Amino acid sequence: MSKCRVCCAELKTVIDFGSMPISNRFVVDPHVDEYKFNLSVGFCPECYMVELEECVPPSEMFNADYTFFSSTSTAMAEHFHRIADEIKERISDKVQPFVVELGCNDGIMLQHLAAQGIAHLGIEPSANVALKACERGVNVRTDFFNATLAREIVREYGHATVVCGSNVVCHIEDINSVFSGISEILSEEGVFFFEDPYLFDIICKTSFDQIYDEHVYYFSALSVSNLAKRHGLELVDISLQEVHGGEARYYLMKQGAGHPSARVEERLRAEKQLKLDKYEGYSDFSQRVKKISGDLKVLLEDLSAQGERIVAYGATSKSTTLLNYAGVGSNLIEYVSDITPTKIGKYCPGTLIPVKSYAEFEKNPPLYTLLLAWNHKNEIFLKEETYRNQGGRFITFFPAVVVE
Ligand code: TYD
Ligand code: ZN
Repeated sequence: MSKCRVCCAELKTVIDFGSMPISNRFVVDPHVDEYKFNLSVGFCPECYMVELEECVPPSEMFNADYTFFSSTSTAMAEHFHRIADEIKERISDKVQPFVVELGCNDGIMLQHLAAQGIAHLGIEPSANVALKACERGVNVRTDFFNATLAREIVREYGHATVVCGSNVVCHIEDINSVFSGISEILSEEGVFFFEDPYLFDIICKTSFDQIYDEHVYYFSALSVSNLAKRHGLELVDISLQEVHGGEARYYLMKQGAGHPSARVEERLRAEKQLKLDKYEGYSDFSQRVKKISGDLKVLLEDLSAQGERIVAYGATSKSTTLLNYAGVGSNLIEYVSDITPTKIGKYCPGTLIPVKSYAEFEKNPPLYTLLLAWNHKNEIFLKEETYRNQGGRFITFFPAVVVE
């Protein structure tokens, strides 16, 4: 039995995927055993948090070999530019504003503030990615954010007007330390906003590939408002984002510093309607996951039996759960095409499907392509218009397996 990391109540298992490798650790030598852990998710009936039952030590995931760079998609670059613009607007009337970003990755967002001389600090535990941010003129600290670091930052820089984090808060196991750090670092009228995959979307679309080692928490307005309250914070706004297959951005302030918007109430209502505050709301999730995985495998096996080549598109972290759980390996997929230099020439975790360059895909495109990077579907369909016009077909799988 695992305990909720927020409130210590006993978790009730939602889904158990069994043994899995680390999603972003692309394999260099396929003969060396990979680190494995048991991937399962539980629901807390007390505070409504949905979280991993077993966690991987952060040093196994976020280290100098980390292969994830934010700047691989134009849509994401635009998304982060918009975040920078929103921050600029928020701080426009503030005297000596100070902006902190948790998990600033390669500086994709902070570069826009750095360019205008706005006081900022990026916190990034993966040294190789942090170096890229430095090269972009971003002030970076290679570290993990927690309450102790928050106190240090306050001593060195003062309180923060804005703290933000994209796809990072859900990564940090000691979530209470993050939130107590936030309540220390925020100025009295400061805003903390963060965005992560939205539980509501995962349950509605059955997008179970969002579940992997790095994502310790699957947040909802229900769980975030409870978590905030424990730390003297309040959920004052929420907005839904299309990136990464469906995310929610939560805005928090110190209790009483802001007025919760109608959107908060609306999300809480929608989540309760989906029964995300009850164990029964998760009862058929596991069955739906099995159905999609089974359908996908059968389709790929049929195509393969007909002699079709199948290539996958986008060596995402997400696909580690999908491919391993569905049992789709190099017997069905020729290779995965990806544009990230640090992934090319390596093998996908667990399945050991080779990762090859996009040039390889362009040179000899297959008839069928499994769209692992489904979260970039619009961008990729635009880019692959000619491929599709010439008969190329993408296979997508949420909420159901489709050839399109
Ligand atoms: P990403 O969206 O970051 O998902 P995850 O968080 O699950 O890793 O990963 C997208 C991957 O797809 C990344 O490795 C880059 C790759 N990619 C391409 O190869 N071609 C493209 O056109 C796009 C948009 C992404
Ligand atoms: Zn709890």
